Amino acid sequence: MVTEQENQEKIARMQQDVDIVKRMDRIKYKIAVMSGKGGVGKSTVSVNIAAAFAKKGYKTGIMDADIHGPNVPKMFGVEGKTLIFDKEGILPVETENGIKVMSISFLLSSQDVPIIWRGPAQTGAVKQFLGEINWGDLDVLIIDNPPGTGDIPLTILQTLPSLDGVVIVTTPQSVVQEDVVKSINLVKSLNIPIIGIIENMSGFICPHCENEIFIFGKDSGPKIAEEMDIPFLGKLPLDMKTSEASDIGNPIVIKEPESEISKKISDIVNKIEKTIKKEASP
Ligand SMILES: Nc1ncnc2c1ncn2[C@@H]1O[C@H](COP(=O)(O)OP(=O)(O)OP(=O)(O)O)[C@@H](O)[C@H]1O
Ligand SMILES: [Mg+2]
Repeated sequence: MVTEQENQEKIARMQQDVDIVKRMDRIKYKIAVMSGKGGVGKSTVSVNIAAAFAKKGYKTGIMDADIHGPNVPKMFGVEGKTLIFDKEGILPVETENGIKVMSISFLLSSQDVPIIWRGPAQTGAVKQFLGEINWGDLDVLIIDNPPGTGDIPLTILQTLPSLDGVVIVTTPQSVVQEDVVKSINLVKSLNIPIIGIIENMSGFICPHCENEIFIFGKDSGPKIAEEMDIPFLGKLPLDMKTSEASDIGNPIVIKEPESEISKKISDIVNKIEKTIKKEASP
């Protein structure tokens, strides 16, 4: 027999799903950034894609879904901000450029305390997040995922209604390839469109001899794209100024819009824009 408590829990879960649909209905395009591998640049790419969309005039938000290593607030220079709760939900923090940022780290008392949540608690936290954040009306929401194909990316992919697609990030290193293919297969198995794959940390221009050095190897991104039959969005070089810009909370596309890497990011964002607009039109 179903107990009263079980009934109440079921109703609460259904209400949460309704809340998520209502919130997400007010966001035109939703893009998840993923990779089967850690440290390949998902957060760097997410932050810069969000900043590039904002520069194009899109009302933009970014959700940091990485509960173990939430880096997005730092990369946007808004870490340590306190959240405002009102009767409409939780208000995201806004950057100087008007980008709305939400991260589990805003709920933590100290950035140095690790979160120990088991699978179901992680799923619950992400769903609560999705249902309670009052983004208002947005044109684009970028969701930065933790590495891998675990509970959080899976919950995002399964729960978000009308996700426009996934951007996959890889590096040229061959050991990364296997894990990245796994994440592509997960997205495909859920019938969610893959917008394309970005090869990050692809080549480095030596400041002394100006030759390009391929620290992590070469061309694994285009190879994965071809083998998995997904679009290739472009290569981003290893660039010291990019990591420095993230560290000071000012994404490279805002800090140095004329740099080579910023232009490459803009090209990638133009491709993403084309894809999501095409998919959205009847
Ligand atoms: N193109 C790049 N050039 C130079 N440094 C980069 C580049 N992309 C990322 N980095 C640096 O590499 C490190 C890892 O990047 P980032 O945190 O974006 O990866 P991630 O995939 O989000 O990692 P995690 O799996 O931990 O979430 C950071 O120090 C970041 O500044
Ligand atoms: Mg990250």
